[in-house]
Amino acid sequence: MNDILPGEIETWQFLEATARNVFGTYGFAEIRTPAVEKTELFCRSIGETTDIVEKEMYTFDDKSGNSLTLRPEGTAPVMRSFIQNRLHTLDPVSKLFYMGPMFRYERPQKGRYRQFHQIGAEVLGVEDPKIDAQVLSMLNQYFCRIGIESVSLQINSLGCPECRPGYRQQLIDYLEQRLDSLCADCQRRYKTNPLRVLDCKASGCKEATVDAPEMLEHLCADCEEHFSAVKKHLLALTIPFEVNARMVRGLDYYVRTTFEMVTDRLGSQNAVAAGGRYDGLVESLGGPALPGIGFAIGVERLVLMKGEEKIIPPVPQLFIAALGQAACDQAFVLMTELQRAGIRAEMDYQGKSLKAQMRRANKLNAAYTLIIGEEELKSGEAQLKCMADSKQSQAKLGQLAELLMEKLTK
Ligand code: HAM
Repeated sequence: MNDILPGEIETWQFLEATARNVFGTYGFAEIRTPAVEKTELFCRSIGETTDIVEKEMYTFDDKSGNSLTLRPEGTAPVMRSFIQNRLHTLDPVSKLFYMGPMFRYERPQKGRYRQFHQIGAEVLGVEDPKIDAQVLSMLNQYFCRIGIESVSLQINSLGCPECRPGYRQQLIDYLEQRLDSLCADCQRRYKTNPLRVLDCKASGCKEATVDAPEMLEHLCADCEEHFSAVKKHLLALTIPFEVNARMVRGLDYYVRTTFEMVTDRLGSQNAVAAGGRYDGLVESLGGPALPGIGFAIGVERLVLMKGEEKIIPPVPQLFIAALGQAACDQAFVLMTELQRAGIRAEMDYQGKSLKAQMRRANKLNAAYTLIIGEEELKSGEAQLKCMADSKQSQAKLGQLAELLMEKLTK
């Protein structure tokens, strides 16, 4: 779990502001849900046999004995809120986005943390494959806008309750004949979660599953048609993608379209964003039978990719150096007035010498400095120094805000 410090936060603010801007143009409204939900919500939606539910949740009993969990992801809480607040009665199509911390007890490494942040978006109420393409178009545009190009989009279809069970059984049969080659984890889970074996990094599992049956070869006619239409619309929107038939997602609610934005710049944590369709989820949680699709972006991974391209934090526009107690008190009033007028003003609070105050103004990279002592208090005027060219000009203290505004907007 990381602190996000000044100097880093500017990148976060940029990533968040750009998401608000891009998602807004696609008609998405922001939703904020609590960081804690009933444990049952995640067990029912993400799936009892997933890594997240089996091993990674921060779960605890509150003082009334309710089992609560720090949200490991954002989709289930948004669905819970959608149902509880009957948002479908407001509009047959809901487009929602969210951003905030998520919690998973994973083994930390570069790009993988126990508290991490997601920016996510969900669309409820549309089955049309156009919406799959539109969600991917929005994700694609977001990456363009934040200036991250070294990512590629991989898509797959995981079928539906019609065609997946048959495929799942074929996969179990296939794995059963190769049990000896599988790692201990996969030997344990091949029956409960066979698709996960396709995603296992252990070399034995990789080799054993080279010729494993693929979901794409077993799609029912409706899923096949849906997936073809998604690809057609992506081509029409000129969004580059690759079909990855072995893509498996770590959450059970997915049906049909699934996708990941991957990069080779982050080592093993290569997914910067991921998502897919979850058509039965709202109904299974007690809501109306509405289809849904969405994604979540891992913000820490974006920040790592932005890396050296640091966004410069705002520097003071004026540093007021004061000599003596009376001037210091007056500088404090003056600084506050300027801040109220929207000017980033700073001063010293430690009674430092003039030289030390000027050193600090330099260190902070202040655009202008103003020195006030007894003389200046009496005359109501002081020297305003531009730090870039060291030029000085006389400034009336009573009109400082106007003067600075004029100079700063030049
Ligand atoms: P997810 O694949 O579990 O999907 O997570 C989405 C993204 O969150 C990942 O691609 C990754 O960038 C980031 N992420 C996940 N775990 C960590 C971690 N421990 N540390 C840092 N970043 C992490 C979901 O969460 C789904 N709710 C996405 C979705 C929305 N599907 C439909 N709608």
